[in-house]
Amino acid sequence: MDGRRGIRWGLRSLDHHFRTYGFAEGSRLLLLRFAKSASGTTYRRWRRPQFSDYPPGTASFYTSYEDLLLSHRELWPRSLRPSLEMLNELRSEFRSLQRIVDERHATRKLSHPQPFDVKGISSLLIYALVRIRKPETVVETGVANGMSSFFILHALRSNGSGKLYSIDISSDVGVLLDDDERAAWELRVLSGRFGVADFARALADLPPLDMFLHDSDHSYVWQKMECEQASLRMAPDGLVLSDDMDWSLGFIDYCRAANLKLAASIAPPTMFGIALPPSRRAAVDPVAGHRFPTLIASARSSGGHLS
Ligand SMILES: C[S@@+](CC[C@H](N)C(=O)[O-])C[C@H]1O[C@@H](n2cnc3c(N)ncnc32)[C@H](O)[C@@H]1O
Repeated sequence: MDGRRGIRWGLRSLDHHFRTYGFAEGSRLLLLRFAKSASGTTYRRWRRPQFSDYPPGTASFYTSYEDLLLSHRELWPRSLRPSLEMLNELRSEFRSLQRIVDERHATRKLSHPQPFDVKGISSLLIYALVRIRKPETVVETGVANGMSSFFILHALRSNGSGKLYSIDISSDVGVLLDDDERAAWELRVLSGRFGVADFARALADLPPLDMFLHDSDHSYVWQKMECEQASLRMAPDGLVLSDDMDWSLGFIDYCRAANLKLAASIAPPTMFGIALPPSRRAAVDPVAGHRFPTLIASARSSGGHLS
């Protein structure tokens, strides 16, 4: 590429990133891209995953929500038989809600750019998992306009109980939510320099988590740290999820460290990850009462926080 064409290409790329993702996120992505090309494959923390990063037998990939949910019996409560009819019903509930949120999306002043919103099949999976598993305590990180919060809150409402705690670094989030939806919602804003300790504090007084969804900063360190910290607070049968799991190797490495297989839904431009609960016969840590023995052992030896 000659000098002028290089400059034109650079300017077009800047313009594309800033228009699509806004200044802060666009700069971060450009920096990542630069670091990736400058460092080759040396830095695992800076790289996005390739299929070869998933050790054979540890991950299953799906392009259909039905296939994913019907293939993993461990995602269903013991008392419920997975069925296509039930998934179809949940899909039609989801579609009605989608019409409502799309209308709000078109008419409200959004605080965050549209690409931040969780996408169709990921929202459907989140909605269906909340409806199927009926969690009492759900935590999500990353609210933006409130798309995922909207679906979680409606799923909890249809279940008849449950509360959503959302964690963000900004209080200017959730514009898609109405006042009545906020009744079962608590927003926790990370203060100060927001590091591991702040995040751990935001979880510290919550009841055991039945479901945790990561959708905040997808950089390797933060994505992995959030999932690890959440694991220390999970209920015995809790579920850890990640939107945009392919933005870094953080979620894959978290699953590896916790010895969990994963199921992923692929719907470009996004990949949604579910850390699969171990089979029901697998041992549960008898002391902590939940199921992340590797992480628990490592947290105990480091005084409670995982780095
Ligand atoms: C991808 S958007 C979330 C999209 C949202 N889940 C939805 O479905 O619309 C990312 C959000 O994460 C927040 N965020 C960025 N870094 C964060 C961090 N370190 N901890 C918590 N939230 C963070 C941003 O303020 C933004 O609201």
